[in-house]
Amino acid sequence: MPPTPTRSEFRLGTAPGGLPQIGHAMEFQKRPLEFITSLAPCGDLVEFRLGETPVYLVRHTELIQDMLRDTRTFDKGGPIFEKSRAFFGNGLASSEDAIHRRQRPLVQPSMHVRRIAEYVEVMREEAVKVTESWTEGRSIGITAAMQALTTGVTARTMFSTGGGPDAVAEVHHCLPIILRGVYLRMTAPEEMVEQLPAAERAEFDDALARLHGLVDKIIEDYRRSGVDHGDALSMMLSARNEDGEGLTDQEIHDNVLNLFSGGVETTASSLAWTFHLLAEHPEIERRMHDELDGVLDGRAPANDDLNRLPFTRRVFTEALRLYPPVWLVSRTAPTDAELGGHPVPAGSTLMYSPYVVHRDPEVFADPDTFDPDRWLPERMRTHPRGAMIPFGAGRRKCLADNFAMTEGVLALAIIGSRWRLRHAPGTTVTTHVAATLGPGPLPMTPEARRTGAGLAAPR
Ligand code: HEM
Repeated sequence: MPPTPTRSEFRLGTAPGGLPQIGHAMEFQKRPLEFITSLAPCGDLVEFRLGETPVYLVRHTELIQDMLRDTRTFDKGGPIFEKSRAFFGNGLASSEDAIHRRQRPLVQPSMHVRRIAEYVEVMREEAVKVTESWTEGRSIGITAAMQALTTGVTARTMFSTGGGPDAVAEVHHCLPIILRGVYLRMTAPEEMVEQLPAAERAEFDDALARLHGLVDKIIEDYRRSGVDHGDALSMMLSARNEDGEGLTDQEIHDNVLNLFSGGVETTASSLAWTFHLLAEHPEIERRMHDELDGVLDGRAPANDDLNRLPFTRRVFTEALRLYPPVWLVSRTAPTDAELGGHPVPAGSTLMYSPYVVHRDPEVFADPDTFDPDRWLPERMRTHPRGAMIPFGAGRRKCLADNFAMTEGVLALAIIGSRWRLRHAPGTTVTTHVAATLGPGPLPMTPEARRTGAGLAAPR
């Protein structure tokens, strides 16, 4: 592990190229992942420009931690978050520090470990449901299948009774359209959005209106009935701070949308990448199957079983390292600031990329190799502080990291106990860059590992 530079030794670099007025906007727009990755050798903090705005790619793990832990100096704001707020409101993911400090303790209990243990049954049911229609040898789009799974899990843990199966179907229809549309509107110039075909704009507006309407209706129903359903929405409705204040209906609405936008594609992409990696590494897949067979022996896992599947957890963790779905995260400096001994002028945007950090050979040895055993306790100690950041860090760390890990390991256990997935013939896997980093549709062919109707109930 290289020694940590002292503050005066962090290297400030400048991105090569850049055009008058637009700076590096075209390269960033066209090939964002390649562009960000290409900046890595330029310094610990690398300056470039998007239009007139100075942007810093924060590269060194120590500087990333400094930035993420000082939430007043490096806040969420600026044009990117203003656009996101226009669609998703002012919930945890996009609110400024002062609002976030009030909201987070009121939303956090919905993701408490005790709650997550109660959500395991829903996660199990959804994983079983998604695979029910699979037959030996008939290809399925694994990304769409995993999105169906995570939509069902997120919707049912959020509002277990609200809207019934129709609500899940409605979210499943609207969310991908919204996420695609919001990403485009956040990253593309206004003129480009205005030139989109009328049908595409109408589809986006319709999906947004339907999802907002659905969430409003469910909140209203819950308020009227006053029943605690033991789900995330009931928790948000009843949460109070030490002054006895709760969240307003608008804040709850915005946070429900944040949980959907943050929770569905992320976990689905991670699972899809995991199946891709397992298919490419049959020896690792065999070890995971051996663990599942040894611990579960054909039963569906219960919450207590999850601790007894350390290799499966390491597989999912390693997939998150190689393909962190949230590949780029940004902050803004509302006033003049300093990072790593270098001035950062007010109005600058700062970004860090978990993808770039996780693949940096100075951070992880042999970074492009899929090696779940790097998460063995004795090897974990050798990774630098802040090396593994798929869920971010500090006060704004993912609200649902434990939830996502539970959902991921459980889905791998249920699917892996029954099926082995192989790339469909002729498939070339490429990295699709949008709000999340995904493997595209990823057609895979299930091969049955066990015959029979399905998994026995957990003990
Ligand atoms: C593998 C799955 C997931 C990954 C990799 C992931 C990653 C992240 C990251 C990197 C952040 C921090 C962004 C920042 O610093 O600006 C974040 C925040 C957040 N995530 Fe996740 N996430 C995942 C799953 C989920 C799920 C399942 C949910 C909800 C059900 C969720 C809800 C949120 C929310 C609400 C925030 C904002 C937290 C705050 O600012 O207080 N995420 N996530």
